[in-house]
Amino acid sequence: MNDPEPEIIDLKPDLGDFRAEFLRGMTSVPKEINPKFFYDETGTRLFDEITRLEEYYPTRTEVSILREHCNDLSHIAGLIETVVELGSGNGEKGKLLMNCMPDLKRYVFVDISMAALKKALDSASDNNKHIERRGICSDFSGIDRILDHMFPEAKMVVFLGSTLGNMEQEEVIKFLNGLSGVLNRGDLIMIGVDLKKDKYTMEAAYNDRKGVTAKFNLNIIARAERELSIPLSPRDFSHLAFYNEQKGRIEMHLVALKDISFELDGVTIEIKRGERIHTENSYKYNVEEISENLKKAGFQNIGVWKDSMEKFAIINAQR
Ligand code: SAH
Ligand code: AVI
Repeated sequence: MNDPEPEIIDLKPDLGDFRAEFLRGMTSVPKEINPKFFYDETGTRLFDEITRLEEYYPTRTEVSILREHCNDLSHIAGLIETVVELGSGNGEKGKLLMNCMPDLKRYVFVDISMAALKKALDSASDNNKHIERRGICSDFSGIDRILDHMFPEAKMVVFLGSTLGNMEQEEVIKFLNGLSGVLNRGDLIMIGVDLKKDKYTMEAAYNDRKGVTAKFNLNIIARAERELSIPLSPRDFSHLAFYNEQKGRIEMHLVALKDISFELDGVTIEIKRGERIHTENSYKYNVEEISENLKKAGFQNIGVWKDSMEKFAIINAQR
């Protein structure tokens, strides 16, 4: 008998959103673009390339921590039926989790990028066919409403890759409180966070020698040109990434190489030569900061897994 096709629920997170948010960002001071718009098909492919770069330590470090704790994961699987992975990307880590947790009933990938979601469901399909797989194409900021309705069973919410670090502190608190409100007592949460370390290592991860991160950053301009029919060119911007010590975050910007002017929905936007568009923050944490936020949101039994160099941490907690 053939396995059924994994079900994808498409909540169309991008529809109309990019236009309105792009316009809002271009009229803000300073100009900004929400990093969730990096992940069109090209952006998703470029992020995949980033994860394999020599300088980009977070992915391989987090994978090594998960591998080391494969046994612990198999014990966790005994406590739950379902894993819901937020911002699941290409599904590589999901595949690893399923291999360590063969007793799971269901694995749910959630991502804003349909391209990533399809890849995740595809890559996860070779092994563990008995685990039911589902995909939800959605912005994870609304995940509390989805979880509440669709997955009442005992579960673990997984949020890897330090994607939490792309949120502002107020968003993190809102997000954790939202999750806490819909999880049942005993449900689990597992969050991967990049830890504060020497500036050189962190800055190198966002300024790789092959220029893949620059392409990833510049692709958001190509996306605006294509999807919003704006006469913009990635050639008119350069990539800038640095560690902001005071704020504890890597910042990514696009710097205009000349004066640029265009119209969007009747609004004239002027970008001056040298002006920056802020495209991403990637906060780096201390374990204590995240643990504190988790406690305040009502989570307990907090446990931490780290690599030997203490570059990255996976934090487990229970509702
Ligand atoms: N978790 C994977 C991928 C990290 S890249 C890993 O650790 O390698 C970030 C992923 O989150 C991308 O696949 C992107 O499409 C997704 N993403 C970013 N913002 C999102 C949002 N607001 N809602 C849902 N998915 C989002
Ligand atoms: C997905 N996110 C955690 C990545 C990060 O490191 O902030 C996105 C990224 N941006 C540039 N390189 C990788």
